[in-house]
Amino acid sequence: MTINWDEVDGFARGLISNAGETIRKSFSSTLSIETKSNVNDLVTNMDKEIEQYFVKQVNDFDSSHKIMGEEGYGDSLTTLDGVVWIIDPIDGTMNFVHQQRNFAISVGVYHNGIGMLGYIYDVVADELYHAQKGKGAFLNQTQIPHLKPVNLTEAILALNATWVTKHDKVPYEVFGPLVHKVRGTRSYGSAALELAYVACGRLDGYLTMRLSPWDIAGGKVILEEVGGVVTNLKNGPHTLIEKDSLFAGNPSVHKEIYNDYLKGKL
Ligand code: IPD
Ligand code: CA
Ligand code: CA
Ligand code: CA
Repeated sequence: MTINWDEVDGFARGLISNAGETIRKSFSSTLSIETKSNVNDLVTNMDKEIEQYFVKQVNDFDSSHKIMGEEGYGDSLTTLDGVVWIIDPIDGTMNFVHQQRNFAISVGVYHNGIGMLGYIYDVVADELYHAQKGKGAFLNQTQIPHLKPVNLTEAILALNATWVTKHDKVPYEVFGPLVHKVRGTRSYGSAALELAYVACGRLDGYLTMRLSPWDIAGGKVILEEVGGVVTNLKNGPHTLIEKDSLFAGNPSVHKEIYNDYLKGKL
């Protein structure tokens, strides 16, 4: 059976728009905040409510579609066979709680492991980054241009300070020299927005040691539509089933950083 991706796209955009409206309305009510794996790993009633909304709506739309979501209301998947929605209801929950900005809804729709639709919705700015495979990437109605080569000395990278200080996951010698080489580094606290910013050329790369499939899935579709490269830090592909490191970038920056700073070091 052929899938009408324009129809799925329209449906997904409607869900994201409704979910965004629900989140904006929640700013005037008191959040219920809990912690998960540690005291800084926050989850709110809105993270749960929004994921449950997606799960219910997608099941009603087509019960053969599967769902992988951070908060666990979807399916427990070991493969990406069939149509799989990979959903992060709120990416950047810490920012959502502390700042009421710099967070996003992230959705990727995959078909037998191939990213077909990608969405990152900056709820507060009302900016939807979106792409359908083969049809280009857009920020709201405006097409995002293909990425052009950037000199590493003029590049801005997203990199969390955690990975540059003493850490058992990565020696200082790997990221330290890179931080000194580039023009600047940033850390926004939302992997999805950081991927969207790489797609727009606001950032030239994003490197991090550990993310989950729902952090990456939507952004990967968008970034690849503008010629961006999305791998792990060993330059290998993501399974989008297991957690992994991430190295997303402008192609020229990705190539130079991998060859000169990462190859054989991680
Ligand atoms: C987190 C954010 C953050 C990244 C963390 C993620 P969450 O997602 O993307 O930027 O550094 O690794 O877990 O939990 O806010 O959806
Ligand atoms: Ca979380
Ligand atoms: Ca996330
Ligand atoms: Ca989340």
